[in-house]
Amino acid sequence: MMEKTFVMIKPDAVKRRLIGEIIQRFEKRGLQIVAMKMVDVDKELAKKHYAEHKDKPFFKDLIKYITSSPVVVLVLKGKNCISVVRKMVGATDPKEAESGTIRGDFALEIGRNIIHASDSPESAEREIKLFFKNSEIFEYNMPDADIIY
Ligand code: TYD
Ligand code: MG
Repeated sequence: MMEKTFVMIKPDAVKRRLIGEIIQRFEKRGLQIVAMKMVDVDKELAKKHYAEHKDKPFFKDLIKYITSSPVVVLVLKGKNCISVVRKMVGATDPKEAESGTIRGDFALEIGRNIIHASDSPESAEREIKLFFKNSEIFEYNMPDADIIY
């Protein structure tokens, strides 16, 4: 099924110059970038984005981290891309993440785990709306779409 998912390249990954490396993995996999920008996440937006975790002990640190410096946000489109991207991202705790996944290759600590990706169709829709206007999400044909899909 053709899906869209939301990805955030977190502050630590931006500062470590990993933006290109991470985006390249998604492009090489055959996913289409349909929206992308760099943003400063303010406290209000961060709290909305992570609302499901508001009562967790790590919430305060999570909000501090995600608002500490700019992030890159993307919307990716592709067949089954919500679960495909979660697999590419790897386990939440990088020490459990398989090598070959983004967290498994570039991170060591759960509080600095490089990247966020939507975990379900409902959260993908919610998160995309939170970060992007409709006019910032593009539709265009990829020349190799008939080979990949
Ligand atoms: P969660 O939604 O469980 O993980 P994921 O990012 O894989 O969807 O948690 C959101 C973020 O909160 C997670 O990426 C890192 C942070 N976090 C902690 O700092 N400590 C924790 O124990 C957990 C579960 C998450
Ligand atoms: Mg999550």
